[in-house]
Amino acid sequence: MNSAPVSPVATIDGPSGSGKGTISRAVARRVGWHLLDSGALYRLVALAGERSGAAPDDPDRHAALARAMQVVFGSRSDGGEQVLLGGEDVTVAIRSERAGQGASRVAAWPQVRAALLERQRAFAGPPGLVADGRDMGTVVFPGAALKIFLTATPEERAQRRHKQLKDKGSDVSLPALSREIAERDLRDQTRQVAPLRPAEDACLIDSTGRTVEEIVREVLEMGAARRLWQL
Ligand code: DC
Repeated sequence: MNSAPVSPVATIDGPSGSGKGTISRAVARRVGWHLLDSGALYRLVALAGERSGAAPDDPDRHAALARAMQVVFGSRSDGGEQVLLGGEDVTVAIRSERAGQGASRVAAWPQVRAALLERQRAFAGPPGLVADGRDMGTVVFPGAALKIFLTATPEERAQRRHKQLKDKGSDVSLPALSREIAERDLRDQTRQVAPLRPAEDACLIDSTGRTVEEIVREVLEMGAARRLWQL
C-alpha cells in the first residue's frame, strides 16, 4: 500500500464524544486546510441503506451504496455545515443517535470500509487535510505527518453528546446515552477490521476537563513544531 499522501495530512482519531469533530473543524479552519469528517461518510452509508430499503444485514448492498452515493459537503450562509445525499439535505438526519448507531454497524463490515477507502483519500489535497475519524492514522492515512488520538472519560463524553443533542432539540436520557456510547465504543474497538486504536506514532491528548481552545492550541503547536503550518 502506498501510504505517502500527496500533500500533508493531520489525523485526529478518537472515540465518540472525545471532541475530535469540534477540534478538527477548528484546526482546519485556523490553518486553511481541507476537512474530512469520515464519520459522516459512515453515517451517510447507514442512511442511504435505510432510505433505499437495503436489508440491514447486507454488507455488499451497503458497500455498493458507499461507492455510488452522491455526497456534497458544504456550508450554509451562516457558516454551519450542510450535507447533501443525492441532492437532499440530510444535515440533521445524519447527526441523530440512530444514524450514529447505524454507522457503527455498517462500519464493522470490511466491504463498506474498503468501498470508502479511496473516497476518503481523495479528500487529501493542497494545502493540506485534517482528517477526523477512528482509523485515519492507522489505515486511511498511515503516512500522515501529524497523528493525534483524542480521548476523554466515558462520563464526560456522554455528557458532551447529551448537551450536543439537547442543543439540537433531541431529548435523549443521559443513562441511555451512556449505555449507547459504551456499546458503540466496544463495537468500534473490537471489530476485526480497522478497530479504534491509536496509531503507534500518534500523540495522545486527554481532553477531559479541558476547553476546546486549549486542545486546539496544543494541536496547532504540534503541527507548527512539525513545520506543517505557522502559528
Ligand atoms: O465520528 P462519528 O460518531 O460520526 O462516527 C460514527 C460511526 O462511524 C462510529 O461509531 C464508527 C464509525 N467510523 C469508523 O468506523 N471509522 C471512521 N473513520 C469514522 C467513523
